[in-house]
Amino acid sequence: MSKPFKTLDDMGDITGKRVLVREDLNVPMAEGAVTDDTRLRATLPTVTELSDRGAIVLLLAHFGRPKTPSPDLSLALVTKPYEQVLGRPVRFIDWDGADAAVATLQPGDVALLENTRFFPGEEKNDPAVVARFARLGDLYVNDAFSAAHRAHASTEGLARTLPAYAGRAMEAELDALAKALGAPEHPVAAVVGGAKVSTKLDVLKHLVARVDHLIIGGGMANTFLAARGVKVGKSLCEHDLAGVAEEIMAAADRAGCTVHLPYDVVVATEFRADPPTRTVNVHEVAADEMILDIGPAAVEALGDVLKNCRTLVWNGPLGAFETTPFDRATVALARTAGALTVDGGLVSVAGGGDTVAALNHAGVADQFSFVSVAGGAFLEWMEGRELPGVTALTR
Ligand code: 3PG
Repeated sequence: MSKPFKTLDDMGDITGKRVLVREDLNVPMAEGAVTDDTRLRATLPTVTELSDRGAIVLLLAHFGRPKTPSPDLSLALVTKPYEQVLGRPVRFIDWDGADAAVATLQPGDVALLENTRFFPGEEKNDPAVVARFARLGDLYVNDAFSAAHRAHASTEGLARTLPAYAGRAMEAELDALAKALGAPEHPVAAVVGGAKVSTKLDVLKHLVARVDHLIIGGGMANTFLAARGVKVGKSLCEHDLAGVAEEIMAAADRAGCTVHLPYDVVVATEFRADPPTRTVNVHEVAADEMILDIGPAAVEALGDVLKNCRTLVWNGPLGAFETTPFDRATVALARTAGALTVDGGLVSVAGGGDTVAALNHAGVADQFSFVSVAGGAFLEWMEGRELPGVTALTR
């Protein structure tokens, strides 16, 4: 089926062409080392293909949220780690003298331009900054789905200025997301977890009309339980959102979506690793206890729900998974989803910062059909919002 955007397959002969490639190199660093290189690795299919095809590859990326140019947010810091991941030389190019430096590059060369956000106009999608970037390249590739929710010069403006293509990672991401919520095979389940309902209200509202099963976990579940009259003790809970939780449950009812809340939970009186815990029915939480994970009976029931589903979208952990033993429900359900995917019955797509960490912790990230490297962009996509960087590619 033809895609609503152009890909690297549509570029023709690019030998000696200067290709501006927007990547997301916004990686976590500690003491000069990259602590998670997932985003660096995600760029490899596009960058190696373009370089192998003889293009001059000019990488554009932001790093952090600089107010003014500062050495601690220079992409010079990422150049060496990136070079190691890419396995070929990467030339760092500062904005001062960028035109002259680019002019010396040869077909196949890969260069990393300085932080795009060192231009104040980048985030404003200022036409002057778009033109500044555009004059360095002949063609534009956007490979950064995780920055596509930003209408910035390097993510949106350039796509309207130069011939624009989706990179391989962007293409894979858009294909997977289309399968998961665009035209999914039903029944569809969504797992939405995390600490707070307030950060995921729009996600929940969008999902109830699209999925058959909405599985709510994490601290968010407590808000829904409390709205149903359950006493949640000292649990993390947004009591002021009880009305909103009720509205979401009513909307789900109208749409024929089943909302799954846990009926057993793991509680403790203090939040630390391996404290004394109890597994109880949700109606048995004591006033001095907090819910820190969903219980084994609920996990088993949720596993049965997934067995009858064809598609799964997962965002957010089910419990306080960074702290043992409150990782158990997330790990168990993630393993069930992974196994069902490997067996061929389920298309599973997951995304969002904590989610990827949780799936890695469960050791099943590579069993899922697709794991997105995006944080905010994945959430905005789950909210049904238009992503300017994607829209500009499909124009
Ligand atoms: C991210 O880290 O989610 C992306 O790189 C986007 O970064 P931003 O939220 O600073 O735009």
